[in-house]
Amino acid sequence: MPSRKKSSKPGNKSLGANGSGSGSTTGISDILEHVRSARGFDAVGYCTAVMETRVQSRLSATGKNSYGDYLRFIETSPVELDFLVEALTIKVSSFFRDPLAFEYLGECILPALLAEKAASSDRTLRVWSAGCANGEEPYSVAILLHDLTRRDNHRMDTTIFATDIDEKALANGREAIYSAASLANVRRGLLETSFERQGEYFHVLPAIARMVRFSVHDMLDRRTASPAESVFGTFDLILCRNLLIYFQRDCQDVICEKLYRSLAAGGYLLLGRAESIAEPCQASFRRASDCCSIYQRPIRSGKPAATGVVGEQQSAVPQSKRDAP
Ligand SMILES: C[S@@+](CC[C@H](N)C(=O)[O-])C[C@H]1O[C@@H](n2cnc3c(N)ncnc32)[C@H](O)[C@@H]1O
Repeated sequence: MPSRKKSSKPGNKSLGANGSGSGSTTGISDILEHVRSARGFDAVGYCTAVMETRVQSRLSATGKNSYGDYLRFIETSPVELDFLVEALTIKVSSFFRDPLAFEYLGECILPALLAEKAASSDRTLRVWSAGCANGEEPYSVAILLHDLTRRDNHRMDTTIFATDIDEKALANGREAIYSAASLANVRRGLLETSFERQGEYFHVLPAIARMVRFSVHDMLDRRTASPAESVFGTFDLILCRNLLIYFQRDCQDVICEKLYRSLAAGGYLLLGRAESIAEPCQASFRRASDCCSIYQRPIRSGKPAATGVVGEQQSAVPQSKRDAP
């Protein structure tokens, strides 16, 4: 897990002071500092309440009464440290999580993008799934694109860049093997054409798995606007779902500016159901649908107030007129 330099981080607010046990001088910040130095996961910038709830859940699970007792425990138990990092990074996901948003994507947004590409000489479609957890989200988009291009006979060079801060999650994504529980929202037809069942597990078919490229990218790293793997070029579609909600306001601003800079003019941004664009960037996007948190970067728009994110990318798509479906 990449560790950010202390000075470059937004949201540098101190976390809860003293431990939950009376007389303890160890605070939650000591626990998070141990996680940072031992595992590289830096909790600065995340919502304090979320981090506290997560650490508290591990105190309860291990029967520890104070942050001090729990700190001593994780200093000697790598297994519990794993559980804590797992709890802090919150990698809950599933295929087609939020079915309405994915239906809108499959019925409106993706067909519109494909039609526009077909009408031009551009045969490349670039998608970014930021905070992709174990790969369920980027593979959901790959499944929809595979189905649409197969049905309509589109010839399209599609790449879905899938990034996360957690290398273990990315390794799981590359394996592309899932349990039935994570597939509950997959339509029967797509289940049959997208997975091969092996015993209790479902393998994403190679033709679909090949569309997705996994790499580490820290959304709070101001030095880069988009994943290094994606080299140059903006994205036609970015999914950044259920990530913003875990961050403090100034970090949300950094992420929204990064998303804006990485999105092609006319490209779409899909956030989680409970999320919206942070204030400094709001005027730079237009809402593309009332039914879900989907936004479009207009062909011409004002730049958001700078938060220090480096490097606006060259647009990979023509500046043709692109209206929301
Ligand atoms: C709740 S999951 C969301 C997964 C998926 N987008 C979805 O909506 O189903 C949040 C993901 O964000 C990742 N994450 C947390 N902090 C991050 C950061 N600073 N940069 C990139 N990813 C981060 C976590 O590791 C986790 O996989």
